[in-house]
Amino acid sequence: MRIFSDPAKLQKWALAARRRGRKIALVPTMGYLHEGHLSLVRRAKALKADEIVVSIFVNPVQFCPGEDYEKYPRDEKADIAKCRAAGATAVFLPTPATMYLEGHSTVVSERRLSAGLCGARRPGHFDGVCTVVAKLFNIAQPDLAVFGSKDYQQAQVVRRMVRDLNFPVKIVVAPIVREPSGLAMSSRNTYLGEDERKTALAISAGLRRIKADPSFTLAQLRRSLERAGLRVDYVECVDAETLEGVKKPRKGACVLVAAYCGRTRLIDNVVL
Ligand code: PAF
Repeated sequence: MRIFSDPAKLQKWALAARRRGRKIALVPTMGYLHEGHLSLVRRAKALKADEIVVSIFVNPVQFCPGEDYEKYPRDEKADIAKCRAAGATAVFLPTPATMYLEGHSTVVSERRLSAGLCGARRPGHFDGVCTVVAKLFNIAQPDLAVFGSKDYQQAQVVRRMVRDLNFPVKIVVAPIVREPSGLAMSSRNTYLGEDERKTALAISAGLRRIKADPSFTLAQLRRSLERAGLRVDYVECVDAETLEGVKKPRKGACVLVAAYCGRTRLIDNVVL
């Protein structure tokens, strides 16, 4: 497995691989890898990618002031070992200084799908995501890129960016991987104390209920989260593709939750 830190070196390698007809898959991550990330690597493998590049980069420009950029968990050594074991052929570990050169002044901004949900609560977040993903596409030259659907809005925003800007990259979105308890896997789960992990289960339990029980309303879902001790950021039901709000949960729509468990902001969703 190759390890790159210099964007130019990875790009040169990727361009040469493409010229030799190699199919490249990119799995973009912020590291502190868990089973959810590794499922994306395995999905890339199942799609017969010849090269699987995992990028590990805690992208400073997608964090808002006061968020957890500084304390976001990092473990480079363990991540490299996990990538190797999962079948990645290259890992990209750039630094903020090499990704954002002095005077960096170009931003990629999706304006519609990123307006609501997390985009409304985390101003600038999706500009940061689109900018780094566009850069990663140019650097790693992937034929396909695999994203997890826990970040449902992110996956749709990236799809739209790819369509609007004609990136020659197929976007693959893989299902959420959950712990046996139901908790959606996330690097941020590491912030949760033992009691908080129990409190957080109200999110996946509520989403399971709304999928199974058509009479369970969004308001009831919100109340169940509050009763469990979560501070709800939003509970919304949207069209699964346009992300426009729909009044009543219906088949094919997506219900999304963002809620604070203590100081940790968790997100989860379910497609009905
Ligand atoms: O989902 C993430 O971990 C990040 O938002 C991504 C896609 C790697 C961009 O920094």
